Amino acid sequence: MLILIFMNKFVIEVKNVFKSFKDVEAVRGIDLNIPEGQFVAVLGPNGAGKTTLVEMIEGIQKPDRGEILLFGKTWKDNETELRQLIGISLQETRFIDKLTVYETLRLFASFFDLKRDRVCEIIELTGLEEKQKAYTVNLSGGQRQRLALGLALLNEPRILLLDEPTTGLDPTARREVWAILNKLKEKPDASMILTTHYMEEAEQLCDQIIIVDQGRILKSGRLDELLDANNKNLDDLFISLTGRHLNEQTDQD
Ligand SMILES: Nc1ncnc2c1ncn2[C@@H]1O[C@H](COP(=O)(O)OP(=O)(O)OP(=O)(O)O)[C@@H](O)[C@H]1O
Ligand SMILES: [Mg+2]
Repeated sequence: MLILIFMNKFVIEVKNVFKSFKDVEAVRGIDLNIPEGQFVAVLGPNGAGKTTLVEMIEGIQKPDRGEILLFGKTWKDNETELRQLIGISLQETRFIDKLTVYETLRLFASFFDLKRDRVCEIIELTGLEEKQKAYTVNLSGGQRQRLALGLALLNEPRILLLDEPTTGLDPTARREVWAILNKLKEKPDASMILTTHYMEEAEQLCDQIIIVDQGRILKSGRLDELLDANNKNLDDLFISLTGRHLNEQTDQD
């Protein structure tokens, strides 16, 4: 009985999942259990399989093998319910050029039957007040990322899945996104997985860090568990695990 109660606390369960694209084995047997309230960083170089893994958790791609459960449920039979509970932002977000920031948020809010008030809350949370009448095509990179995050947060998701939310942003814009995500941490039932190339991002935002390379988990744990005298930061650790820097391209054998 105790074991059952404990198991139900995992909001995301990934069980021995594999995914290949023709001859490329993007994900090669990944297991994950994410408890409610945990913020998790998936850290790895280009081509490590981060997007493929996250998109399978998002129900966008199907695993070839293995099982993924969100709140104990599979995507196959519970898609409508699960869509209401998660918020996602993809690695590259394309907005409708001819809608303004406000109109874009209103459109997405209508999918969830949300009122205007929620749109205003999101505009405030993401600091887009001055840009709400701007066409999305005219936003800067940082503003686009904040809008993408705002869209992901509209429905007050219990699980937030963000694929490289700050890639390409300057340090100030990156910190603005971190500030928004740090506010979410105050909600005890909000959980998050983000993928990133930035060690500092993982360190600043996440309780648990998962280092992936070539479709496998190399190591995972809290930052203090991962670092030691020989590996003083995540980059040192990555080099000692793989012989390469985090920002080097992965070549599959
Ligand atoms: N739709 C696809 N068709 C063919 N190959 C794919 C497809 N999607 C991903 N891959 C391949 O699978 C591997 C993992 O890709 P993935 O996008 O998951 O990596 P990633 O860790 O997200 O990389 P990045 O940091 O560059 O975003 C790569 O070798 C990639 O080329
Ligand atoms: Mg990716």
